[in-house]
Amino acid sequence: MEFFLDTAELDEIVKYKDFLDGVTTNPSTMSKHKPSEHSSLIKEICKVISGPVSVEVISEKYEDMVKEGQRISKISDNVCVKLPCTLDGLRACKTLSVKGIPTNLTLCFSSAQALLAAKCGATYVSPFMGRLDDNGHDGVLLVEEIVEIFDVQGCETKVLAASVRNLQHVIQSALVGASAVTMPPQILKQCFQHHLTTQGLERFAEDSQKNK
Ligand code: G3P
Repeated sequence: MEFFLDTAELDEIVKYKDFLDGVTTNPSTMSKHKPSEHSSLIKEICKVISGPVSVEVISEKYEDMVKEGQRISKISDNVCVKLPCTLDGLRACKTLSVKGIPTNLTLCFSSAQALLAAKCGATYVSPFMGRLDDNGHDGVLLVEEIVEIFDVQGCETKVLAASVRNLQHVIQSALVGASAVTMPPQILKQCFQHHLTTQGLERFAEDSQKNK
């Protein structure tokens, strides 16, 4: 499974780059940086990470999304244009896909949206697990359903489990066969941290001092 970091913070990306297959950003994570610095920040991230770096359009209309998507994709070869699962976003996905530009269809909350994303040639589709859970639904179930549908239908679009809030989201999305998962730095940290590892190391360090 591909591991993506869901952040626009370069220091975090550099810290974890050995684990990372890609990065996802969104207008909320980018808003922590000045708009005039967005292009150079994306360029820097794309230098550190050779895999896909998702950058979301802020335009809402089809024509503007296509223009913005083309502009964003020119920042670096590994930029993946993130578009919302709306009518305009899906249409822009189709146009950009035909031009060979990689896309990530975001804000996906249903299997029907995921199917349309696949029909429009999306490279990735991002079901939002955490936000579904917050609204009384089961995020993992949606990821599982999309994976199964894509398998049965032979869709090439990859399922990118997003809006990850805990370690279980990572494990469960791996179990149900998501191609990729994107998580914030604090969850990636939980992937390698374990209190028994810490405790074990402390005991080994103490024991190694005995008989000195
Ligand atoms: O990048 C999109 C997604 O992962 C955002 O997650 O936690 O804001 O629902 P969240």
